[in-house]
Formats: sequence, C-alpha cells, structure tokens
Amino acid sequence: MAQGREFDVIVYGATGYTGRLVAEYLSKTYGVGGDVKWAMAGRSADKLAAVRDEIGAPADTPFVVADASNPDDLASMAERAGAIATTVGPYQLYGEPLVKACAEAGTDYVDLCGEPGWMHEMIGKYEGAAQKSGARIVFSCGFDSIPFDLGVWFLQDAAKEKLGKPVRRVKGRVRKMQGTFSGGTFASFKETMAAVGRDPSLIKVLQNPFSLSMGHEGPEQPHGMAAIEDEDIGSWSAPFIMASINTKNVHRSNALMAHAYGKDFVYDEMMLTGPGDKGKAMAEGIAGTNMMGGDGPAPGEGPSKDERENGFYDVLFYGIADDGTVIKAGVTGDKDPGYGSTSKMIAESALCLVKDDTGTPGGIWTPAPAMGGHLVKRLTEKAGLTFEIED
Ligand SMILES: NC(=O)c1ccc[n+]([C@@H]2O[C@H](COP(=O)([O-])OP(=O)(O)OC[C@H]3O[C@@H](n4cnc5c(N)ncnc54)[C@H](OP(=O)(O)O)[C@@H]3O)[C@@H](O)[C@H]2O)c1
Repeated sequence: MAQGREFDVIVYGATGYTGRLVAEYLSKTYGVGGDVKWAMAGRSADKLAAVRDEIGAPADTPFVVADASNPDDLASMAERAGAIATTVGPYQLYGEPLVKACAEAGTDYVDLCGEPGWMHEMIGKYEGAAQKSGARIVFSCGFDSIPFDLGVWFLQDAAKEKLGKPVRRVKGRVRKMQGTFSGGTFASFKETMAAVGRDPSLIKVLQNPFSLSMGHEGPEQPHGMAAIEDEDIGSWSAPFIMASINTKNVHRSNALMAHAYGKDFVYDEMMLTGPGDKGKAMAEGIAGTNMMGGDGPAPGEGPSKDERENGFYDVLFYGIADDGTVIKAGVTGDKDPGYGSTSKMIAESALCLVKDDTGTPGGIWTPAPAMGGHLVKRLTEKAGLTFEIED
C-alpha cells in the first residue's frame, strides 16, 4: 500500500462506456479537491476533456494521459496514485502492462476483469512482485464478482456465528436481475473465445472451477449448464452467464483465506425462473440460448441512462449445513448490474483499499479476502447494495 501519493485513485479508461460512469460517480459523490483526490486518465487529453464536460465534472478535474501500449506512461501513472481503477479492456489485450506497473510500484489496482485465462496468467507472473512491493491487485471488482464473492463471505460469516462453523454447500441463485451488456464486455467475451482458438489448453483453465485456487482441487462441483428443478428452493433454475468467472473467484477467495469455507466447499450459481410449467419453460429457454451470440454493441456503447437507472438485481445465497440446517442471505443492488452498479462498486473498492485500514498485505487478491466487511460497509452506505441474513 502506497502512502502520500498525489492521487488516491486514478480512473484509467475514463473515456470508455464504463470508465466515464466511474468518473461521474466519483465526481458526484466526492467532488474534486475534497477528501478524495482522484484523476481521470486515458490515452487522449482531448477526449478526457470532452468526457469531463459531458459528465459535469469540474473544469479543474485532474487528467493523466497514458497509452496502455507505453510502459513508461504506465509506470509514471502508477507512481502518482495510491490505487488505479482500470476499465481499459479487454484486459487480455491491454491489461498486462498496467498490472506489471502497479505490482512494481506498490500501487493498489482494481479492475472489472471477467477473463479467467488472463487472470490465471497474471497471478503466475506478478504475484511475487505485488507481494514484494505491497501492491494489492484485485481483479473482478464489478458485478462479476463482488455481489457473489462478498455474498458468500457474508453468509459464511453468519454461519460461523450462528452454527459455529461454515456451511459446506452454498447455492448462489439470482432471483431477479435487469440489465444488458456493453461493447467492452462483448469484446472481452469474444476475445476469450479467440484466445481459446489460439491456445486450446486454455479450455482447462476456463472449465475448472478451481483454476484460480492456488493448486487446491476440491470436490466435484455442479456444472450449472442445464435447466433443473431445485426442490430445496421450490423453483426451476437456469444457467447463469456470470457463473463461470464468479465460481472461480469464490473458490479462490476460499483458498486465499486458508479454506475458511472448508476444503470440501461446494458452490454453484444459477438463475431462478419460478415454479411449475412456466418456470420450467423459461429455464429451458435460457439454457438453449447463446447469450453472447451474434452481433453485440460496439466499444464505447452500452445500456441507455434509463436502462441503467431502471435496472436492479437480487441474489439469494442458500447455505446448507451437513445436518440439513439452512441459512440464507440476500444481496441486492440498485441500478443495472453491469454498469450503474458496477461503476459504484469499482470506485468504492479502490477507495476501500486506499482509505480503509484493511491490513491486507501485497499480492493478487479477490474482493472478499482483500476487503471483506470494510467493503460491505462502503457498498451499503454509498453504493446502493444491501446484504441481509434472511429467515
Ligand atoms: N465485470 C463486470 O462486471 C464488468 C462490467 C462492465 C465492464 N466490464 C469490463 O470492463 C472493460 C471495459 O468495458 P467498456 O464497455 O467500458 O469498454 P469501452 O467502452 O470499449 O472502453 C474501453 C476503454 O479502454 C480504452 N483504451 C483502449 N485502448 C487503449 C489504449 N491503448 N490506451 C489507453 N486506453 C485504451 C478506451 O479509450 P478510448 O476512449 O481512447 O478508445 C476506453 O476508455 C471490458 O473489459 C469489460 O468486459 C466488466
């Protein structure tokens, strides 16, 4: 953790669809020149100035100009900040030089990465440098995977208090969700598919729920790829598009916390579609749809302001102890998950690392072990999320 830097947080990629929302959130929530020292960064000063005016940020909002292909730009940017929140993606195309720069400069780093092949590679290459410099590198600080990673952490914390130990089985179940995706997310998905085409050995990393779990291989996990009737919950469930990245992050969190959820922990994620024939038909319909097929939005494009404002999500975490005792938690968020809510989550994650006394040492982390209750508090107080134990 770096002390006394010029900026607490630099938002890198502030000219992109998601980055501008992050800058807008910081500007509206914390202003400029106040307790939070932050700057907008991107590769074009003109574009940064245009975005600053469009989002209504003050004219004296600081800028940093840095091209992702120029390591010197990135090294000097990293040295000016306590944390960098980057939305310059696909990360597997543009992300590595910034991870390297932050790991070497002792600068905390948060991103919105949902690209596990790249994360796996970065952990192998830069974990040692981050541990040495004190940089906390935290991938996946957006809808994937904060509500899920922190939701499981929150449920297990309550289980330990109520039942004296963690529950071995947790089901993450999206009860409600409204939102679509942006050009950057679509490009990242396509890039992952292209990477598999170039290097088929990546399939193993993508398919293994323990591929980010530091060598630990737990018990067989439900694959979650088909419509099933969940009798515990009384609903049909369908495959959930974010499950592949979230489950890897949740298992990595468990490994990073010395298996605080147990070495035999079982976790999967699905979407609930309701009971009866209607729930079944919907679950089967979703299971048969390729969500990222066809053409998607172009880079820089994404859901409209109305779509963001009217979006929401509600996720159930259903824990089952070995004696059959059930413990449940709910996590909700206002605004659409991928952008309205995500932009607040990544901003608060960066602030959590630089402002809160988390005591987390340098390394490559997931959100829950790096920030746990500190981040739950921030997200609840500032970012429109709720975390509750349910009866
Ligand atoms: N995990 C989640 O929940 C979540 C949610 C939202 C987004 N995401 C991820 O976030 C990333 C961004 O998505 P998006 O839709 O916001 O993308 P986008 O609109 O295409 O924005 C990409 C940004 O990267 C910048 N960039 C590209 N090449 C650069 C370079 N050489 N140097 C410096 N900057 C460069 C672009 O700058 P210019 O404006 O100059 O082109 C732009 O600011 C994607 O990887 C996406 O998957 C994840």
